[in-house]
Amino acid sequence: MTTKVYQLPVDKTGWQTADQTGTARFTWDYDNGREKLISLYDKGKRKQWDAKERIDWSHDPDPENPLQVPDELVPIFGSPVWDKLNTAERGNVRRHMVAWQFSQFLHGEQGALICTAKIVQTVPDIDSKYYAATQVMDEARHVETYSRYLDKIETAYPINPNLKSLLDDVLSDSRWDMTYLGMQVLIEGLALAAFGLIRNTAGDPLGKAVNAYVMQDEARHVMFGRLALRDYYPQLTQAERDDREDFCADACYRMRDRFLGEELWECLGYDPEDCLEYVNQSESQKVFRSLLFTRIVPTLKDVGLWGPKMRQTFADMGVIGYESTDLDAVIAEDESIAEAIDIQQRAAIDAAIADGVAAAT
Ligand SMILES: [Fe+2]
Ligand SMILES: [Fe+2]
Repeated sequence: MTTKVYQLPVDKTGWQTADQTGTARFTWDYDNGREKLISLYDKGKRKQWDAKERIDWSHDPDPENPLQVPDELVPIFGSPVWDKLNTAERGNVRRHMVAWQFSQFLHGEQGALICTAKIVQTVPDIDSKYYAATQVMDEARHVETYSRYLDKIETAYPINPNLKSLLDDVLSDSRWDMTYLGMQVLIEGLALAAFGLIRNTAGDPLGKAVNAYVMQDEARHVMFGRLALRDYYPQLTQAERDDREDFCADACYRMRDRFLGEELWECLGYDPEDCLEYVNQSESQKVFRSLLFTRIVPTLKDVGLWGPKMRQTFADMGVIGYESTDLDAVIAEDESIAEAIDIQQRAAIDAAIADGVAAAT
């Protein structure tokens, strides 16, 4: 209960108002913050960074291989289509692949921005509103960061129709926890795994830094989803939890089977059906798709959506082994890798200054 010295009785702890865009919940209890959420909010305030200053935008990625990753990561690598391409055409595929992927990150980040703003509005407690407000700012900075990156490679793609339909489902659901579940756990969980693959394989410093820095913030976002849902799901009935599991199972299949960049292959002038068939059957692409679930599986287990439906779905997808992932260790690593890049950058700047001084004397 609030400890504010209200001068007139406060007979309800909150107030809610609704229009076509959803419910806005007010609380009059400004004092009762859960310790972990308040410390996450404090961390969110302290750890803001400015993409303009933190990232070295003077670096120009190679237009023919912007991330400097091995060709084995190109989805159609080894296909008859790929084998026929000359050096310049392969460079074009690499650039378009990065443009498509980073464009989906950009649009997904805008989805996160809008979802987090909705969480501020709909979540009942003041501690969650405080924290979510820091995340709104984080997501705006991520949109800015990916937008700048796409300007550097001078190629962009519209939102993938399947990502759009998943965002539509999440945003049109009026239950507040579905915004967390759909965005913080599923869409961001998948994105985090994809960011991590790029951060860990990219030889280009710009693509690496962009993803490492965004991941540093996302570590807090995943923690927020876990804290909120871990408290809430045990209070629901089994039927309500089953309903959430059905949504997650359907979304996971959709994310695995549909985010295959059909429009990318079409735009490049290749037969999209041939490309999708190859991508669907390629062993390395199957491994890549299963890696996208490294964050989602342990998070769903952690928040208590771990009934027969969920376990069966992940067993069927071949990703149930990720249930034993140590999420806290992974989050700590996301934070430390970003900090290590900062240290490297500072060392490079110090060395450049020292060289300049030595040359001048
Ligand atoms: Fe984000
Ligand atoms: Fe996020």
